[in-house]
Amino acid sequence: MDSPELMIALEAARLGGEIVRRYFESGVTMRTKESFNLVSDADVESEQAIVERIRRSYPGHAVLAEEAHRGDARAEHLWLIDPLDGTNNFAHQLPHFAVSIAYWQAGVPQCGVVYNPMREDWYVAARGQGAEHNGRRVRVSAASRLDEILVGLGFYYDRGTIMEATLAAIGDLFRQQIHGIRRFGAAALDLCAVAEGQFGAFFEYELWPWDWGAGLLFVEEAGGRVTNCLGGAVPLAPTSILASNGVLHDALLDVVSRHYPVQNA
Ligand code: IPD
Ligand code: CA
Ligand code: CA
Repeated sequence: MDSPELMIALEAARLGGEIVRRYFESGVTMRTKESFNLVSDADVESEQAIVERIRRSYPGHAVLAEEAHRGDARAEHLWLIDPLDGTNNFAHQLPHFAVSIAYWQAGVPQCGVVYNPMREDWYVAARGQGAEHNGRRVRVSAASRLDEILVGLGFYYDRGTIMEATLAAIGDLFRQQIHGIRRFGAAALDLCAVAEGQFGAFFEYELWPWDWGAGLLFVEEAGGRVTNCLGGAVPLAPTSILASNGVLHDALLDVVSRHYPVQNA
């Protein structure tokens, strides 16, 4: 794949991933950002290293990153960065987390990298050039019925309306005879699982642009579809997300839109 921004994203992801892996192996103190939402020096230092690398090449670009960079999402050139997606897994010694970096231009995703430094897994996509996992082209699942798929999902840091709505949607999905539900704890990697066909779909009722900035492109380049949970275009703002293999999108929308907690739109 060929794109100057992608080369920088790959370098930056390597730097962030090394920091995160080092902390995972040596141990780090977790702090509570807000209820149930954890952060550590690993998140903060990874973000710093990633942003420094990007700014060295693109000093004029906006950066919207989870911990400390609140660039303008309407900027012509925008980087979306989650320096550690899956912080809860990280905190509990589960090696399922990733660095996620995406470059968007004029509101359109151009390239994205999701990197799990524990498994040396690289998920890379570039607009019009496909999606690759460790250099191998990936495609969404060919399933055409809900009773043929696993559905991945996430719970936002919420113990109220969004949690209840998600639980209700799970019940409905099971009643449609899906194979199973999976909650692995890192939205960026969940989206990659849709692109690879392991999940037929993934949904979450609230996510931030840094969670899905790269994964959205990865799914689309693998032949899948991504909308919000009401079927609309995904805005560069906190939003719900439904990603699927495309074929099953409308059937899934039927269920997830029914339970969508509109007051949190
Ligand atoms: C979280 C993870 C999780 C999702 C949460 C996200 P973080 O990101 O992606 O799977 O359910 O909504 O906030 O906090 O680990 O970067
Ligand atoms: Ca995240
Ligand atoms: Ca994070």
